[in-house]
Amino acid sequence: MTSKLLSTLPSDLNPEKIPQHIAVIMDGNGRWATSRGLPRIAGHRQGAKTLKELLRCCKDWGVKALTAYAFSTENWQRPVEEVDFLMHLFERLLHRELAQMLREGVRISFIGDLSALPKSLQTEMERSMTETLNNQAIHFTVAVNYGSRNEITKVCRQVAQLVQQGKLNAEQVNESLVEQHLYTADTPEPDLLIRTSGEMRLSNFLLWQMAYTEMYFTDILWPDFNREAFHQALLSYQRRVGVARRRHRRFGQLKASLSA
Ligand code: FPP
Repeated sequence: MTSKLLSTLPSDLNPEKIPQHIAVIMDGNGRWATSRGLPRIAGHRQGAKTLKELLRCCKDWGVKALTAYAFSTENWQRPVEEVDFLMHLFERLLHRELAQMLREGVRISFIGDLSALPKSLQTEMERSMTETLNNQAIHFTVAVNYGSRNEITKVCRQVAQLVQQGKLNAEQVNESLVEQHLYTADTPEPDLLIRTSGEMRLSNFLLWQMAYTEMYFTDILWPDFNREAFHQALLSYQRRVGVARRRHRRFGQLKASLSA
């Protein structure tokens, strides 16, 4: 099926069970490129096109939030040329795509320790976050220099400081307070995680936020993850979701009655 045919929601998908928030781990860019005799950076360039297409598809099909893992705290260990290329790619794309995101009602956010990124990239990020803040069609979050353990440690430090300053009692520290200090404070938890290229790990991505998220793993390499592949991911999600949500509720009841 061509992507054109899939611009409206495929008829075998239930519009009432579309995940509201999808997280993606975009894996396999390097392998996609090397298998074609291309440099790894060609895979990232193609991967960025795939991400853009997925964002548009999410918007077309009624997904309200998409969060993509673009650069982890561990990715600094890659060859310096590859890191430089990725930083330039983020900046170039932001610059180039901002007008269209504004037109299409996309709100963009960045999460992670942005202070370690090149200053010119930080400026573009700030600008795009401010300019798109009131857009409503879809919330697109890009995790850059992000690591979940780092995020949770930062929250612990902030909360400890509040206690130390006497602004909070230790007894007031609860899950909701922790959530308010996460980068994702204003976004509901992901309903579905998609990871490409056959890896079945979370790799330090949204560990707190994905406690109840459905997971979908596929062997497809990220640059090849097209609308049809996304369609298959949603079909799998919709087959599982009714049962899983009921199971989750049952666990909740069981836990409640055990602790009573
Ligand atoms: C993982 O594949 C991919 C990355 C670390 C980079 C992802 C970045 C993009 C797709 C560009 C997105 C652009 C924006 C603006 C967010 P890999 O290199 O680990 O592939 P491999 O496992 O085959 O080596």
